Amino acid sequence: METNITNKGTATLTVDGKSYELPIYGGTIGPDTIDVRALYKQTGMFTFDPGYTSTASTESQITFIDGDKGQLLYRGYPIEQLAEKSTFLETAYLLINGELPTHEQSIEFTNTITNHTMLHEQIERFFQGFRRDAHPMAMLCGTVGALSAFYHDSLNIEDNSQRDISIHRLIAKMPTIAARAYKYSIGQPHVFPDNSLSYSENFLNMCFSVPAEKYEINPIIADAMDKIFILHADHEQNASTSTVRLAGSSGANPYACIASGVACLWGPSHGGANEACLNMLKEIGTVDRIPEFVARAKDRNDPFRLMGFGHRVYKNYDPRAKVMQETTHAVLGELGIKDSPVLDIAMELEKIALNDPYFIDKKLYPNVDFYSGIVLSALGFPTSMFTVLFAMSRTVGWISQWNEMLEDSSQRIGRPRQLYTGAGLRDYTPMDKR
Ligand code: ACO
Repeated sequence: METNITNKGTATLTVDGKSYELPIYGGTIGPDTIDVRALYKQTGMFTFDPGYTSTASTESQITFIDGDKGQLLYRGYPIEQLAEKSTFLETAYLLINGELPTHEQSIEFTNTITNHTMLHEQIERFFQGFRRDAHPMAMLCGTVGALSAFYHDSLNIEDNSQRDISIHRLIAKMPTIAARAYKYSIGQPHVFPDNSLSYSENFLNMCFSVPAEKYEINPIIADAMDKIFILHADHEQNASTSTVRLAGSSGANPYACIASGVACLWGPSHGGANEACLNMLKEIGTVDRIPEFVARAKDRNDPFRLMGFGHRVYKNYDPRAKVMQETTHAVLGELGIKDSPVLDIAMELEKIALNDPYFIDKKLYPNVDFYSGIVLSALGFPTSMFTVLFAMSRTVGWISQWNEMLEDSSQRIGRPRQLYTGAGLRDYTPMDKR
């Protein structure tokens, strides 16, 4: 990766009367950064930033978020335009390669992904080994990691063509693994991929068709599925992407790295939030109970939070939430769902929270998860599958960021420091003296 960093002078840090010059770097858009790499060598001090709220861990040319404006760009293109005009596979090509594909490139990429959708037959034995009640995320995490045991021909990360094959395999096989995990969890037979279908059509077919009955693919539903995948494809250096980069920084193989991303995404503060949000909407139950829950969210002594509200980076409306709201209405309309109590509660809750000084002052707006649970459950997915769908889509972002990291000559193994506040040096105490 050619660097796009521009030098913008220096910042002066003064410690105990001694001054140090720290380089300032500018990017294309977004805040400038202060280079602290030499700080420890020069001053013997570390920076302290738990949760990395002020730390740029890398230069990246893939995704940009302006949290104050509520803007999300993939390779410069606004997410709203991609959701309206692109397809998931075209967006995947864009994220990985940096440019939208030409007609020929698009056909070639789609063919390549389509031709990698099947799983090695022995992977089937993994599924047989899982308990019937295993969470699909547990199966996804384990099976993705296990891919490295099957594709020895593409584990050399120094070889560009092997990296490409791994990228294609991961994008192509994630839906097959995800659908397989779903079918296993509900005791239905595995449905093989159908290469005559688009990425999203194929996924819906693998999830919802059964040998006894053909699944009629509704183009509006398939389009909504594709949009949902586009919206979740990348989000710059979020927790799971940073996990993938950190795992990859040691030279680990791509399947192991993506498995680490799946594991991180599973948490309720990250990918698990849409499941938590839908559960919360169901718990609220009726519109008249909303004030009670809003009051609880505002109560400092109550750990309850309004799920689907707030974001580490967005201090404005999450642009994905807007598209997701429209998609939710389109899907419910197409499916003829006129009475949706959870949607009614969501709309009212959004209205109340957006006018409440607590949420206004803290800049807490609905995030993408606020509506995604409603639409995914309308599409027929159980809550246990929500994060799995997110992982399928985010695989594109993870693998693009992993690939970018490997092309960046300035990258080193990720190794944060700490501020140690534990016990000082002391001698071992024998058991009878404790
Ligand atoms: N409901 C009520 N209060 C909230 C909420 C919420 N959903 N979110 C944040 N706050 C309050 C906090 O209590 C805190 O108040 P204080 O300053 O008085 O202590 C303040 O807003 C800042 O919150 P932090 O937790 O410090 O913000 P952070 O950036 O660390 O957290 C997070 C972001 C984790 C997303 C948080 O807003 C949250 O828990 N939201 C609900 C879960 C959720 O929807 N997650 C999905 C994220 S999007 C994604 O992963 C795709």
